[in-house]
Amino acid sequence: MTPLYDLRRVHVRLGPAGQVHALRGIDLCVQPGERVALVGSNGSGKSTLLRALMGLVPVGGELHRAPGLRAALVFQRPYLMRLSALHNVALALWLQGQRWARARARAAQALERVGLAAYAGRNGRALSGGQQQRLALARAWAQRPNVWLLDEPTASLDPQARQEVEALIHTFTAPGASPADAGGGSLIFSSHHLGQVRRLASRVVYLEGGRILADLPVEAFFCPEELARHSPRAHAFVQEESA
Ligand SMILES: Nc1ncnc2c1ncn2[C@@H]1O[C@H](COP(=O)(O)OP(=O)(O)OP(=O)(O)O)[C@@H](O)[C@H]1O
Ligand SMILES: [Mg+2]
Repeated sequence: MTPLYDLRRVHVRLGPAGQVHALRGIDLCVQPGERVALVGSNGSGKSTLLRALMGLVPVGGELHRAPGLRAALVFQRPYLMRLSALHNVALALWLQGQRWARARARAAQALERVGLAAYAGRNGRALSGGQQQRLALARAWAQRPNVWLLDEPTASLDPQARQEVEALIHTFTAPGASPADAGGGSLIFSSHHLGQVRRLASRVVYLEGGRILADLPVEAFFCPEELARHSPRAHAFVQEESA
């Protein structure tokens, strides 16, 4: 199987003079159908890795993408324009070359899909945090991605909104999702919620200081003895987060 992503010794330097070494020698191979969670403290490099996968930051080393890969990235803070919810989605499609009438129709379908049909005319920026996150997911869904890249998709949401957004992620990316929801089951997301990681991931990658210190199937990651054997640092992180 051709991997979706194959990264070898990937480095990313940020800041005006490239003084921040945000990723330091990342080796990561992601196969179709995998559901990878990126975990680690603030500043460990999760967002940078997602941006690198999306091609938004220049990288050193090798980063290969599968041909035909259609990735959609939902940012940690959804970027919405001062436009109606409908137009926020339609504009993204139009910018990708769809005719306006078609883009609008697809956008309406996407809003329906995330339960925001009633808010189609509402300014995207005037929606609640949970609604904005759903709108960002609708915008991604409308682009028919086969890989979903989600950066802390439920950060700052209350438990109810978190549950709703998680349920959407689940249906959009579930293996065997209906063609309408086709995500191909491939998901790479970052999260500070270990409960969410357990629910959504099949594999967990632990980052620290721009390096991968652990990369394990979800069962192994949440088995304290096994995790401690692979990476005492990752084990300490999980203990702290769970305290
Ligand atoms: N535009 C930028 N310019 C300079 N440094 C940056 C930039 N963006 C991120 N960094 C730095 O790169 C490192 C990795 O940041 P990144 O945002 O990837 O971390 P993160 O794991 O997503 O953290 P968080 O959990 O807080 O979202 C940090 O040291 C951060 O300060
Ligand atoms: Mg981040």
